Amino acid sequence: MPKTVGNGSGGVNNPARAAGYSSQTVNIDLHQHWELGGVEIPGRLVLAPMAGVSVQAFRRQGRRYGAGLVCSEMVSVAGIQHKNERTLGYLRVSRDEHPLAIQIFGSDPGAMAEAARAVEAAGADLVDMNFGCPVRKVTKTGAGASLLDDPGLACRLVAAVAEATSLPVSVKMRRGVENGSRTCLAVGPQLVEAGASSLTLHPRSAKQMYTGTADHSLTAELVALVDVPVIASGDITSRARAESVLAMTGAAAVMVGRAAQGNPWALRQIMGDDSEPTREEVVAELLLFMRETVRELGEHRASGFLKKFYGWYLGRGRFPRPFKQELVQLPTLDEVEQRLLAAAPGARFVLERLLDEVPDPSDEILLDSLPISIYGGG
Ligand SMILES: Cc1cc2nc3c(=O)[nH]c(=O)nc-3n(C[C@H](O)[C@H](O)[C@H](O)COP(=O)(O)O)c2cc1C
Repeated sequence: MPKTVGNGSGGVNNPARAAGYSSQTVNIDLHQHWELGGVEIPGRLVLAPMAGVSVQAFRRQGRRYGAGLVCSEMVSVAGIQHKNERTLGYLRVSRDEHPLAIQIFGSDPGAMAEAARAVEAAGADLVDMNFGCPVRKVTKTGAGASLLDDPGLACRLVAAVAEATSLPVSVKMRRGVENGSRTCLAVGPQLVEAGASSLTLHPRSAKQMYTGTADHSLTAELVALVDVPVIASGDITSRARAESVLAMTGAAAVMVGRAAQGNPWALRQIMGDDSEPTREEVVAELLLFMRETVRELGEHRASGFLKKFYGWYLGRGRFPRPFKQELVQLPTLDEVEQRLLAAAPGARFVLERLLDEVPDPSDEILLDSLPISIYGGG
């Protein structure tokens, strides 16, 4: 296996490795700042990119609850190239999201380079490349996880993006395509050689989708092979798990995905605050999320998009199960809001406080050279 030359920050970014991997000797501080290709990341918790979830409202909330870095969902480079309005809407960046990565996917180096320039123009801090998506619609185009089986093309894509932008480039990948694959250990160092400033590993195979468990012994092996920061993704659901994965792997940071869906308090808990939210806090965060999503996607798209979030917010024993069913069936978001406020009247005051605290997103950086999505909603 080749030993690669990285950005020289491995010692700083991998404190567990510097200390010899032992969880006994490593003092894990999730608030520790670290650097990704020159971008300072204020904390070792990263919010995962999730298609159909990681809208701006989700990312801004993630930053408020302790994520040091947030990431957009995967954005199609073909959509950017064709100036598809919905795709361009994904490139809207709000000031309170930084540091923010925008993730792109595709399989054509020219289109990837063009998309990277659009990501930079949009105001992102990092360009992330998706080499992990297991969904057939994506892999059959040669993109996502299928790139792990074509390291030559994968490296050309990284090189094209690194050449096209002055932003640091990161890659997010799976362990490989087939179950039990160790391809990430062969490909990862080559991607660094090609210009990646960081690697995120979700150590499940593409075939596994989300079944089984993430095997972070592979993450530890990858950390030992590259001199760039590695982010560990998969099954991080608590502070104890975050600390043990950081200690065991020497990763620079952990990434949290599903545990944060409708549950920003998981991020707060991982960062050290164990307090459970009250019903009023839960409803107020959901109401804020709904309003921001309407602003971002428009009322029509938001009302479909939001349905899955009701269960995510109100589950976990917070509200009786039929309440979610009731909300999903209400015809307008206004009625959902009224019903939520009737169930937790005190949420009105928590929401007012949140609206005072959360900055007005109208100072977004708008794209000068590209049309703004009509779905942006203002
Ligand atoms: C609904 C959903 C959508 C996802 N979309 C993306 C995506 O757009 N890009 C990506 O790199 N990973 C995506 N992922 C994978 C997550 O980023 C993460 O690696 C995975 O869920 C494992 O982490 P977790 O156990 O914390 O959820 C998605 C996962 C889920 C559940």
